[in-house]
Amino acid sequence: MSETMPILYVPAPMLRARARLVEATDDVRALSEKMLATMYAAPGIGLAAPQVGEALRLVVLDVSAKDAPPNPVILLNPEVVAVSEDLATREEGCLSLPGMYADVARPHVVRVRYQGLDGSKQEIEGEGLLAACLQHEIDHLNGVLFIDYLSPLKRNMFLRKLAKDLKRERDQ
Ligand code: NI
Repeated sequence: MSETMPILYVPAPMLRARARLVEATDDVRALSEKMLATMYAAPGIGLAAPQVGEALRLVVLDVSAKDAPPNPVILLNPEVVAVSEDLATREEGCLSLPGMYADVARPHVVRVRYQGLDGSKQEIEGEGLLAACLQHEIDHLNGVLFIDYLSPLKRNMFLRKLAKDLKRERDQ
């Protein structure tokens, strides 16, 4: 098992930056392994490189059921190329916003173009949980967080609560 990395929490500026294109190098392969280890340890179902302090267009995810064998997916430079017209609403959370959950409406199906770890061009089509996870993680590469889809009132409530929780953790 690879070592884990510290996860950045809101309001870390890195979480609002636009990430750079990435190449399939040994460094990126090593980073993706560490990101997967970090994601599984959290535990979470998706993690984007900016969340571990790297402004790179790199995403790892695994939406397989708890009792199913692991099914890690690693995406370099992922891009949404098609979305369904119909939306689905589901509860989202984020490892950079610990303890915060809210309903978010997004296209029910998406097609994403990306490069694999060997640099090859790939496509993945997802619906339901996979579609939401793909969109949530790709948002991270553009400095967008799921709380951006909420009303300003709800978003500010979340941010205040998070700041309070993190302060309490630091003070302990
Ligand atoms: Ni997230």
